[in-house]
Amino acid sequence: MNKHCIKICMGSSCFARGNMNNLNFLENYIKENNLDINVELVGSHCENKCENGPHVCIDDKSFDEVDEEKLKNILESLK
Ligand code: FES
Repeated sequence: MNKHCIKICMGSSCFARGNMNNLNFLENYIKENNLDINVELVGSHCENKCENGPHVCIDDKSFDEVDEEKLKNILESLK
């Protein structure tokens, strides 16, 4: 099984704009749906893209303005 890396910006702007919630959502969604994917969740410092935040990187793709709906679609696409 491929391992995916999800990097969540924990800089103050992204954190305040939704990544605190996005992090909880990710952890719960993976657990509750028993997703058969191997993910490593890591936090990052500000990536200097605050104006498009909250910001999340999955593998080497970068996503802007991330919310629960976007995360759900991304996670489902990793299966
Ligand atoms: S705080 Fe996330 S890009 Fe700046």
